[in-house]
Amino acid sequence: MKATAKAPANIAFIKYWGKRNAKLRLPMNSSISMNLSEIFTITSVEFNQKLKEDLVKIDGKVVSDKEKERVVKHIERIRRLAKVKLKAKVESRNNFPKGTGLASSASGFAALTLAASKAAGLNLTEEQLSILARIGSGSACRSVPSGFVEWKAGNTNESSYARSLYSPDYWSICDVIAIVGRKSKKVGSTEGHALVESSPFLKTRLSGMKKKVDEIKMAMKEKDFSKFGEILEEEAINMHLIMMTSKPALYYWTPETLKIMLKVIEWRNQGLENYFTIDAGPNMHIICREQNVNKVKAKLVRLAGVKQIIINHPAEGARIVKF
Ligand code: DP6
Repeated sequence: MKATAKAPANIAFIKYWGKRNAKLRLPMNSSISMNLSEIFTITSVEFNQKLKEDLVKIDGKVVSDKEKERVVKHIERIRRLAKVKLKAKVESRNNFPKGTGLASSASGFAALTLAASKAAGLNLTEEQLSILARIGSGSACRSVPSGFVEWKAGNTNESSYARSLYSPDYWSICDVIAIVGRKSKKVGSTEGHALVESSPFLKTRLSGMKKKVDEIKMAMKEKDFSKFGEILEEEAINMHLIMMTSKPALYYWTPETLKIMLKVIEWRNQGLENYFTIDAGPNMHIICREQNVNKVKAKLVRLAGVKQIIINHPAEGARIVKF
């Protein structure tokens, strides 16, 4: 009983930051994202009667007790669904540094959900997989369907899942990631979400959310890149405003992050249309049209502090792969 799955990380254009139900990971608002072609997780799960306990390895290493507990809890949900009692061996590999705000929990829990459910003999629908992945890590539900994705907040376990708005080939836009930091973040996103209510600006953020989601969906429908970029950049700052005004305050940016933000604006003013977004880490995601990707890259390589550049295209969602 073994299966292997590959799932992409995703970049959110409208962010998930704040939960209305922490246990079920029901978000306070809907979010919109794109799956990334070059950063992903491949996970194998094997249920085997010879195993005395669950074994979890990530990137070739046995994980800490805390990390293991989160994975085992997820396996437990799948065992219950499939009525399987066997222990599991989980081996997971990321092709990017985890814990740096590059969405390792999204690709990780999407791949784990698909591999474990398949290994346990379940044939879940995309919707069911997205719901299950969400309980493991909220943003993981968006790595299940393909291409450009909407996670409708919903208000129950069954109504909160992601679905594809457009396939990967719908729009040739890129996410150019500039890695400026490789260290694991001090405050993980799960702890960060729990602080949103301490920000005096949360109400303001949430009150504008529905309109923002509608507007970005319209921009995507019309392939209006300027409108799309304007909304996603404003949204990233809006989320970081909540982070920085939480108690305790969360600062995910480093001086390099801010330097690149200002550069992106400068390049745009000079005629190179590009926009930035940032998750819970210092690394920058620069969104541009495919035709401008080499220009953006050429500018980024010249900046001190940029350690690596990863060019992503829109990608498929979680898939079973042969190992
Ligand atoms: C900043 O999905 O990592 O990347 O549900 O607690 O696992 P948990 O949180 P997580 O939060 C992601 C936050 C974000 C924004 C986003 O991807 O929408």
